[in-house]
Amino acid sequence: MSSAHRIAVIAGDGIGTEVMPEGLRVLEAAATRFGIGLQFDHFDFSSCDYYERHGKMLPDDWKEQIGGHDAIYFGAVGWPDKVPDHVSLWGSLLMFRREFDQYVNVRPARLMPGVRAPVVRRDGSPREPGEIDMVIVRENTEGEYSSIGGRMYAGTEREIVVQETVMSRVGVDRVLRHAFEVARSRPKKHLTSATKSNGIAITMPYWDERVEAMAKEYPDVKVDKFHIDILTAHFVQRPDFFDVVVGSNLFGDILSDLGPACTGTIGIAPSANLNPTRQHPSLFEPVHGSAPDIAGQGIANPIGQIWCGAMMLEFLGHQAAHDAIMRAIEECLAPGSDAPRTRDLGGQASTSDLGKAIAARVQAG
Ligand code: NAI
Ligand code: MG
Repeated sequence: MSSAHRIAVIAGDGIGTEVMPEGLRVLEAAATRFGIGLQFDHFDFSSCDYYERHGKMLPDDWKEQIGGHDAIYFGAVGWPDKVPDHVSLWGSLLMFRREFDQYVNVRPARLMPGVRAPVVRRDGSPREPGEIDMVIVRENTEGEYSSIGGRMYAGTEREIVVQETVMSRVGVDRVLRHAFEVARSRPKKHLTSATKSNGIAITMPYWDERVEAMAKEYPDVKVDKFHIDILTAHFVQRPDFFDVVVGSNLFGDILSDLGPACTGTIGIAPSANLNPTRQHPSLFEPVHGSAPDIAGQGIANPIGQIWCGAMMLEFLGHQAAHDAIMRAIEECLAPGSDAPRTRDLGGQASTSDLGKAIAARVQAG
């Protein structure tokens, strides 16, 4: 067995605490089958319970506690009845993204077997599994989400608010390079860039310019670009056209919700916040939040948590284990499979019924 990867496990709030055990169950099954050493260290911070006890989301030494780990496996954070969402999110997850320089957010959006896509073909017929298969790559550290700006003459008729978009060459190039590499690794080798250089006439032409410059280094990748407005329409009308889609922080944020939404239930969508230099740990989490409306009932779909666990193993160099987990998920979702289905998939199964079924398939191979 190779020396163990140290994984910081943070379940967080609500269904985060219910799907996390299933994610760990499946990771354990993969680790056993493929001889991978995984050491799980559990942390109770980055949750609203922790906030209630300590008056903050994180301990002062959180960076020392988890900064030396190989990855962070994260559930979901947020419980708006206890703590306002901007406090819980900015005080935890967004701190990890920034302080650990997780500059790429990756979200695959793939139509899985046994899941009905809400977007249909032009002729009204349903889309087939695999017909939608894209990866959305979002810039995660700068762009429109900057803290540069301010308010003047507050509360008067002269009130002024300004918030600047920040694009650095380093910041733009590193996310583009990552996106081009992902595109190069996939059969279609097709990269789409989200822009709005007609309206946002300084930063977005710069973004386009950097895409063009980078494209010269990747002659094998087919590149196109769309303005964000028509791009969102294309996501709905012809999602099968897309392969890898790269966008700034704001555009990537919108597209990375829209993409998975086009492929069915939010319960299965995964996400990775990567620091590709591996200087700091990367963070793997489902797309969904803590789902207070269904929390405590044991009915949440654990697949988003399990799928991002597979992405974590892939990032740590265990491609075969990743592939085995993905196969197990697809087998369980497939129509005609005897695997239990959670309510969002039209069944009655519990979170752990589905988690156990996937783990058993991973173990059996
Ligand atoms: P949400 O993703 O928690 O829930 C949206 C809807 O999807 C709900 O109806 C929920 O029941 C359903 N849903 C979500 N995950 C599911 C699953 N695994 N299986 C079955 N159904 C599922 O988003 P919402 O309600 O906007 O946010 C709730 C809390 O979560 C807030 O505090 C919010 O800030 C936080 N949040 C945290 C995120 C994170 O930790 N990365 C991401 C999104 C929201
Ligand atoms: Mg979002």
